[in-house]
Amino acid sequence: MKPIQVGLLGIGTVGSGTFNVLQRNQEEIRRRAGRGIQITMVADLDTARAKAVVGDSAEVVADARQVIANPNIDIVIELIGGYGIAKTLVMEAIAAGKHVVTANKALLAVHGTEIFAAAHAKGVIVAFEAAVAGGIPIIKALREGLTANRIEWIAGIINGTTNFILSEMRSKGLDFDVVLKEAQKLGYAEADPTFDIEGVDAGHKVTIMSAIAFGVPVQFDKAHVEGITKLQAADITYAEQLGYRIKLLGITKRRDTGIELRVHPTLVPSKRLIANVEGAMNAVVVQGDAVGTTLYYGKGAGAEPTASAVVADLVDITRLHTADPDHRVPHLAFQPGQLANTPILGIEQVVTAFYLRLQVADQAGVLARITGILAERDISIDALLQRESAEGEAQTDVIILTHDTIEGEMNKAIAQMQALPTVLAPIVKIRKEELS
Ligand code: NDP
Ligand code: HSE
Repeated sequence: MKPIQVGLLGIGTVGSGTFNVLQRNQEEIRRRAGRGIQITMVADLDTARAKAVVGDSAEVVADARQVIANPNIDIVIELIGGYGIAKTLVMEAIAAGKHVVTANKALLAVHGTEIFAAAHAKGVIVAFEAAVAGGIPIIKALREGLTANRIEWIAGIINGTTNFILSEMRSKGLDFDVVLKEAQKLGYAEADPTFDIEGVDAGHKVTIMSAIAFGVPVQFDKAHVEGITKLQAADITYAEQLGYRIKLLGITKRRDTGIELRVHPTLVPSKRLIANVEGAMNAVVVQGDAVGTTLYYGKGAGAEPTASAVVADLVDITRLHTADPDHRVPHLAFQPGQLANTPILGIEQVVTAFYLRLQVADQAGVLARITGILAERDISIDALLQRESAEGEAQTDVIILTHDTIEGEMNKAIAQMQALPTVLAPIVKIRKEELS
């Protein structure tokens, strides 16, 4: 059978990795897919750089639409990124009847509903394993491997840049800015690192996982997103003393009233495997009712780890593209007509535990007033630590760990505590998850 023909849009970091992996492993891939898979056409704004990567093995053009218009191309890979031209090209490729592979989590988290509907109507596949956690096959695991389960929750380190920054800050005591520059130099950060450090990239990825896990539309606009820019070194140290590490987690949970969808710095017990995931590595924990807890770990970024996922999608499509569209794995795991309109809960409705740091006057009765406010709102204290004040120092830090409570109640309690004249600085609040 003649090889399946692939057009590649954007041959930067992931595009080059994809081309190289496909070339290097073509014989094994052909044996697995049942026929060869060849990138025969590449579009990139920088045609000279593209030609340097592909040599004579593929036609190089500057205009991506030439690839989409080519009737010999069966699959289009979009590796340009962003919501702009990438969206236009993906929609045009679908309209032209091409299957699409993309690593573009931003595009799918924001416009996924429209894209999957267009693909369904046209009977083509949009595959996106590389969009979440790079080389870790988490989409496949959620959509197929765990399909027997009622998924209860997912929590993941799904942004390598921020995990690298937090790891370096904790282990080497380095400042945020210094480590961010290093992450950029190492190529982990997005073109705009704000997406990484403000939690947006992780928000995109957890939105996609949430849709697949719970059978709801992708709704990034409803996600609560906080990054790591406001995190202070003192809290990393106090957390450590209490037996916790701070990680930027993407979390989605099923509740009786709806679905939690959130990204924020989180205290995780140091003894959990996920707390020990360091550097730019990614890890995702999934809790299913039948399987229990499962953990997926690996490289979440980089040319070849991400290419591993892109090429896996190419093989899947090659195996499936002659199958009746109704018998393919649905894009979001649930059949398109079976998506539920379960609400995404606002952050005030989330149930979680908290770490609080209060800078207080070192006077009699201060602690009693603070714990009194928590008790009035039925917020139970799990642990409490007061820093011994230095000789002559009139203030100290009080650290409180709570049990699970409704975030709205916690916020009201914080407002009351903040109003006490003995509370001397803005109270630091970080969420805590036991992940047990
Ligand atoms: P790069 O910036 O390295 O590559 C993008 C390429 O697309 C560049 O060569 C760029 O050319 C080219 N390009 C831009 N506009 C056009 C256009 N209109 N037509 C054709 N080519 C164009 O990005 P990455 O490879 O890092 O990322 C690609 C996608 O993969 C993104 O969606 C990203 O979020 C995702 N991803 C990336 C990972 C990684 O580790 N890098 C991991 C997981 C996902 P020029 O440079 O000249 O502008
Ligand atoms: N900037 C992303 C990260 C790349 O740091 O994880 C992979 O999506």
